[in-house]
Amino acid sequence: MLNTFDLILFGGTGDLSTRKLLPALFRQETVSSIDPESNIICVGTKDLSQADYIEIAKASLIKHFPAFEENKESWSRFKNRISYKRLDIKSDEDWRAFNSTDNERVTVFYLAIPPNLYEDISKKLKDHNLITPNSRIVVEKPIGTDKNSAAEINKHLSSGFKENQIYRIDHYLGKEAVQNLLALRFANTIFEQSWSSSAIDHIQISVAEDLGVEGRGGYYDKTGALRDMVQNHLLQILCLIAMEPPVSISSESVRDEKLKVLKSLAFFNEDTIKSDSVRARYSQGLSKGEAACSYIDEDGVDTENKTETFVALKVLINNWRWSGVPFYLRTGKRMESKTSEITVRYKRIPHNIFSKKNEAKTNQLVLRIHPDEGIDLKLNTKEPGVAGFNLEELPLDLNLDDYYESGHQDCYERLLLDVIKGNPALFVRKDEVEASWKWIDNIIDLWKKEDTPIEEYNSGSWGPADSDLLLKRDFRSWKNGSGK
Ligand code: BG6
Repeated sequence: MLNTFDLILFGGTGDLSTRKLLPALFRQETVSSIDPESNIICVGTKDLSQADYIEIAKASLIKHFPAFEENKESWSRFKNRISYKRLDIKSDEDWRAFNSTDNERVTVFYLAIPPNLYEDISKKLKDHNLITPNSRIVVEKPIGTDKNSAAEINKHLSSGFKENQIYRIDHYLGKEAVQNLLALRFANTIFEQSWSSSAIDHIQISVAEDLGVEGRGGYYDKTGALRDMVQNHLLQILCLIAMEPPVSISSESVRDEKLKVLKSLAFFNEDTIKSDSVRARYSQGLSKGEAACSYIDEDGVDTENKTETFVALKVLINNWRWSGVPFYLRTGKRMESKTSEITVRYKRIPHNIFSKKNEAKTNQLVLRIHPDEGIDLKLNTKEPGVAGFNLEELPLDLNLDDYYESGHQDCYERLLLDVIKGNPALFVRKDEVEASWKWIDNIIDLWKKEDTPIEEYNSGSWGPADSDLLLKRDFRSWKNGSGK
C-alpha cells in the first residue's frame, strides 16, 4: 500500500490529466494500493461543480481504461477521493481555499499545465505557506525552450522547493523497456566488457512515429522535433546507453553518471552541422494506407517557419569509452511505422576463417521499446544439414510479453508511484536539463547561422534521402522497422 498522499492536480480538466493521469491512478485503485485517506484534488479554471467533474473523470476512464465496467467497486471508492477546485491563479482569495497543509502527509503538486504558469504557481504555493518538507512538485516537459529559459524555470521552482522535491518528468524514463537498459547493462556481466569502442562499431537510437502533429500544429511549429524529442527523450536514452556504471541505483548516482555523458557530447561546428545533421519536414504521402497532407498544410503551421518534423544526427561522445563510436540519432513524425529501437552494431570479426563468399554478418543487439518490448541479439550460426560452413544470422529473441502479463503499469503510473514514494532516480535533475539544452542550443544556433536547408520526406517513409546518406557515407545503414 502506498503512503497516504494528497495529489493536487493542476490542469485537472486537461488532456494529460484525463487521458493519462486519472487512468494511471485508477489502475492503482483497482489493485487496492491507495490508502483510504488519500485524496486527489483536481484543479482547473472552469466553473464546474463537483458532480460535473466526477462526470468528466468517469467519461475519461470509460474511454481510456478498458476494464472500467468490470471495476465498479473501485470506481465508487475512487470517485469519493476526487474533488474539484476552481482556481484563478492570480487570485489570493482562491489560494486561501487550499488551507489544509498537513506536515506529515505527502503532498504532490502536479503541474499538468503550460510551463509559462510554473512561475506563478510556485510563487503562490510559497506565499501561501503550502509547501512542507513532505511536499513534491511534478513538472512536465518542455522545461524551457533553450538553456536560459530552462534555467529561469529551474530558478523559480528552486525558490520554494529543494532539488530533491522537484520531479521533472520525461515519460520515456517511465517506459519499462527504457528502465530495462539499466538492468541489461548493470545486471549482466556479458555485455559490460564489450560495451565500448573496443567491440562496438556504432549505435543507432531511432524513435519513429507514424502520426503527424495531430491538431497540435500551433505548439509544434514553435518547437520542432529537436526540442520536442531529442532534447529530452533521445538524449535520456543516449545517457542510459552510454553512461559509466553508477555506484548504486540511488537517484544521485544514476543522475551523476548521466550528467557526465551530457557534458561529454561533442559540439557541432560550421562544418559538422552540414555533414552530420539532417532536418526535414513531411510532405504529402500515405499514413496507415490513407492519404496524408504535408506538414505545411497542417492547421496552425506558419509556412514561413522552417520547423523540422524529422531530425537525424551523428553524435560523438568525447570520452575514453566511446571515442570514435558514432551514435546516430533519428526521430520523426509521419514515418512508416511507430517503432522505437536502439541498435548496437558490433565490429566485424578481426579475421574471417570461412570462405570469402560466406562472411559473417556483424552482430547486432536490438533493444526494442515500441511496438513490443524486447531484446534481440543477432548471431551467426552454421546452417544445419548442409556440407561446409554456410553461415546464417539467427536471432536470440526475448519478448518481454511472453513472460509477463500484458496490461502492466504504463509509464505515467510508474512515475507517479515513484513521486509518491519519494524516489527521484528516474526524473531529470536541474543540471541535466541545463546541460542538454546547452548542447541543443548549439545545434539550433548553427542551423540558423548556416541557414541549414530543410529537406522534405514523403509521409509514410523512413525520412529524407539525406538521412540515409548520413550513414551510407560511413558505409552503414539504418535499421528500419523490423527489417535488417
Ligand atoms: C511527447 C512529444 O513528449 O512524446 C510528442 O511531445 C510525441 O510529440 C510523444 O508524440 C511520443 O511519446 P510516445 O510515448 O507515444 O512515444
